[in-house]
Amino acid sequence: MKNIVILISGRGSNMQAIVDAGIPGARIAAVISNRPAAAGLAWAAERGIATVALDHKQYPSREAFDEALAHAIDAHAADLVVLAGFMRILTPAFTQRYEGRMLNIHPSLLPAFPGLYTHQRAIESGCKLAGCTVHFVTAELDHGPIVSQAAVPILDDDTEDTVSARVLLEEHKLYPAAVRAFVEGRLQIDGLRVREQR
Ligand code: GAR
Repeated sequence: MKNIVILISGRGSNMQAIVDAGIPGARIAAVISNRPAAAGLAWAAERGIATVALDHKQYPSREAFDEALAHAIDAHAADLVVLAGFMRILTPAFTQRYEGRMLNIHPSLLPAFPGLYTHQRAIESGCKLAGCTVHFVTAELDHGPIVSQAAVPILDDDTEDTVSARVLLEEHKLYPAAVRAFVEGRLQIDGLRVREQR
């Protein structure tokens, strides 16, 4: 059984998709949020999942917060750390600690549009496709080895909200599938490439 710790900052719809997928061989050991009021925390607690609120504002530095976060993750013996809308820049010490066993989902077709406001930037750039990427986390923001991607069209009348909703539906399929592939030991990292045994 692989222990999964999921980190969120808000509503946690990707976390819900992963929990609801009921991945064989995986146990959701805990859900941790840096925002105590995150809606996703209450959702997880209602389902009997261990939850931890670690308010980043209570820590004097990014390093101190990441240290406390690592402590909380390790207390649940995480085999895999899943960032699901976790809106924090992580220190190199933290990313190194979980290298090869920490996944993130990002709402763009990386390496295009790392950072914030991805859908708005895709629309303004005239892109005909938007999408999402699941990748292993490295010290460089939104840049690690890519596990999987899904693309959706950007239509003439689209707004940030309509693109976001279309992409989110894909996120909810892509992320549980990637977590499942990790749990089943089917992902092999080779530089920036990830090979998935089918
Ligand atoms: C998702 O769209 C995810 O891709 C994005 O935040 C949203 C979280 O939604 N993540 C990032 O922007 C990470 N930089 P959720 O809380 O409902 O899963």
